Amino acid sequence: MTDRPLAAIVLAAGKGTRMRSATPKVLHKVAGRSMIGHVIAVAEALGADPIVIVVAPGMDDVARAVAPHPVAIQGEQRGTGDAVKSAQESLAGFTGDVLILYGDSPLIQPATLAAMRHARGGEAVTVLGIRVPGNSPYGRLVLGAEGTLDRIVEALDATEDERRIDLCNSGVMLIDGARIFGLLDRIGNNNAKGEYYLTDVVAVARAEGLVCRVAEAPAEEALGVNSRAELAQAEAAMQARLRQAAMAGGATLIDPFSVWFSFDTVLGRDVTVEPNVVFGPGVTIADDVHIRAFSHIEQAIVESGAVIGPYARLRPGASIGQGAHIGNFVEIKNARIDDGAKANHLSYIGDADVGAGANIGAGTITCNYDGFNKSRTRIGAGAFIGSDTTLVAPVTVGAGAFTGAGSTITADIPDDALSVARGRQVTKPGWAAAFRAEHGAAKKKD
Ligand code: UD1
Ligand code: CA
Repeated sequence: MTDRPLAAIVLAAGKGTRMRSATPKVLHKVAGRSMIGHVIAVAEALGADPIVIVVAPGMDDVARAVAPHPVAIQGEQRGTGDAVKSAQESLAGFTGDVLILYGDSPLIQPATLAAMRHARGGEAVTVLGIRVPGNSPYGRLVLGAEGTLDRIVEALDATEDERRIDLCNSGVMLIDGARIFGLLDRIGNNNAKGEYYLTDVVAVARAEGLVCRVAEAPAEEALGVNSRAELAQAEAAMQARLRQAAMAGGATLIDPFSVWFSFDTVLGRDVTVEPNVVFGPGVTIADDVHIRAFSHIEQAIVESGAVIGPYARLRPGASIGQGAHIGNFVEIKNARIDDGAKANHLSYIGDADVGAGANIGAGTITCNYDGFNKSRTRIGAGAFIGSDTTLVAPVTVGAGAFTGAGSTITADIPDDALSVARGRQVTKPGWAAAFRAEHGAAKKKD
């Protein structure tokens, strides 16, 4: 039945008080993307349309973050059943399958949900179940004859016997869109929390003779984040996945546990990443790149064969050409370093274009900011920038030109010229010895 249209409702109206944060819980990030961003990406991957996000009044930053997907506002947090009901208007006339997801459960995987959909028959409700032994806080799935699902009992409402059931509710459900709101109209709030439980749709459906079923998934995917500690747990799980995927894609991670990825990091084949490297969002690394230890890279592109680090920092807009070298304590921002160019030591290259094969000496600084405006520095192909050159932008160094070490360059340099812009050296033979002799004599006087 996978050809049935799919809509998704993502619940995100919970206050998240245990995060102790000014930021709504679902906007906290895992692997560089908000939790709700992860969940929406999964719903998108499944082709769900519309994807309606249920928020509480005043959660405008969540609404902005999920745009262009619509939000539905749940006036008061009266439980998960009530939350889903708030999306009724947004789904008016929709009769496909409705997928319920939680905005604070970022580890759910598209493949798991695709399998759940694929296994779906004519049942009114399919619940994604997880195996969680022991005294967990999850709702318990009570099975009936032939393994169909009879009802869900919340841990707080469960008898001792029911609490021994280890098949639990992940929270994810697929519900027949033609019936969902009719079923929800019949659930009450006579329970331990005095809330309208979404989980009660199962018993309501069963009472009408409808069939409900369980599809099982790995428990890890259902991890819900309520606290900073659980956020760190989700991060660890996500990083483990991203590291596995990087290695499966042909990258060598010498110490996978110390490499931190973003959700969208792209690594080519035969990339080597040394220990303690951090990838922020928006990074694409081509084949055969070597990223040496302690480098930090975000919103940057690195072309094949380049060598980055150790201790390099590539900031947003850095574009590193084939075979280029960016060495220790070099920061690149919004700059193109063309093929084969080198900046090996202690430099800041911002708002610049560095031509192919150019050599940037140690301690080179592009002075790109005057306190009001950013200006560009252009360095031609094959240029040689002497150590400790400051380039006061806007300024252009011609192709093949040289700057003398220690120069402050404020005017354009033509191709193949040398510019030296520093005080001329004055040498006075014997001056130091005379100075010492004079002061030594003076000292003895007192
Ligand atoms: C829920 C399930 C439980 C399941 C568990 C899995 C119910 C009644 N219980 O319990 O069976 O094992 O999830 O994690 O559904 N929310 C709203 N509005 C509300 C209440 C909740 O949007 O009025 C959102 C929350 O932001 C959260 C999600 O719904 O994203 C789940 O709510 P939560 O209160 O955490 O449910 P649990 O008690 O954990
Ligand atoms: Ca929860």
